[in-house]
Amino acid sequence: MNTSLILAIESSCDETSVALVRDGKTLLSNVVSSQIESHKRFGGVVPEVASRHHVERITYVIDDALSEAGVTMQDVDAVAVTQGPGLVGALLVGISAAKALAFAHSKPLIGVHHIAGHIYANELVEEMEFPLVCLVVSGGHTELVYMPEHGVFEVIGETRDDAAGEAYDKVARTLSLPYPGGPAIDRLAANGEDTYKFPRVRLEAGSFDFSFSGLKSSVINAVHNAEQRGETVIPENLAASFQASVVEVLVEKAIRAVNEKGAKQLLVAGGVAANRGLRAALQEATDREGIRLVIPPLDLCGDNAGMIGVAAHHAYVRGKRDTLAMNAVPGLSL
Ligand code: KG4
Ligand code: ZN
Repeated sequence: MNTSLILAIESSCDETSVALVRDGKTLLSNVVSSQIESHKRFGGVVPEVASRHHVERITYVIDDALSEAGVTMQDVDAVAVTQGPGLVGALLVGISAAKALAFAHSKPLIGVHHIAGHIYANELVEEMEFPLVCLVVSGGHTELVYMPEHGVFEVIGETRDDAAGEAYDKVARTLSLPYPGGPAIDRLAANGEDTYKFPRVRLEAGSFDFSFSGLKSSVINAVHNAEQRGETVIPENLAASFQASVVEVLVEKAIRAVNEKGAKQLLVAGGVAANRGLRAALQEATDREGIRLVIPPLDLCGDNAGMIGVAAHHAYVRGKRDTLAMNAVPGLSL
């Protein structure tokens, strides 16, 4: 019963992805069809455009994932799909495809929380050891999640305003950088210095919550003030200063959460986990503190169905099954 072959689908935002995952451990295939080029000229993801792309791509991506894995639907034990959170129209495309496959081939259907998927991407690097703490940093979420065991997620801190990735994207827009802004800021920051010394927002003593909207305003004000004085900002330094402020608070709170909770591992999850500055600072801090750090490789930090299949395996062995009445839940909580 601990073995499984799961076909997983992810379509919550702007990637159409299908993966075949063996025993929650091995990605036989993980096909990701990105729509970034279509959204770039709008400076962000346009929900209707995203839905249409998913509809156009989904059947091809399913076929590609099956043939790359060298399996057929007969071999599959269950069909998993991201149920939420995400864009409702985008989610519905993946869910409809998953239901059709499950119904046509008489396979169980398993709905997966998108953030659970991001967290479970770490299981492909190293087996989870509980209790653990995961720092979740994506475009829509910034959370510290405590996991006492598989499938149990306790949110001990979260952002009170913008998510980390959202702040990256907004600051990038201020600097007229293309969407998605995170990777562009990351590249600039590597060649700059923290000259602006923006505030580090820690909130109340002992809180694991985050706030990035003040920092975002500080960056926007710095750009406007410079413009008014007829000065030019050095984008590298602005990016490095913004990143230093974000990273310092994320790392500090993550380390404190691990120590307070007596966690055996610190996991990192979500698109911003690809950030080089964050990865380096986490490595340095966890080495110093003697904490076991697990971060997914770059290609598993962003949205992909492989991570959904890994999370689904653990739900599958626990006996989780959904019906064909399952619906998209754009605001699904962990
Ligand atoms: O997890 P993800 O792919 O989608 C959501 O579930 O939201 O995260 C996307 C976010 C975007 O805001 C993007 O700008 C950010 O992750 N991101 C980065 C980097 N790569 C992606 N942020 C900072 N540095 C990066 N290297
Ligand atoms: Zn995501």
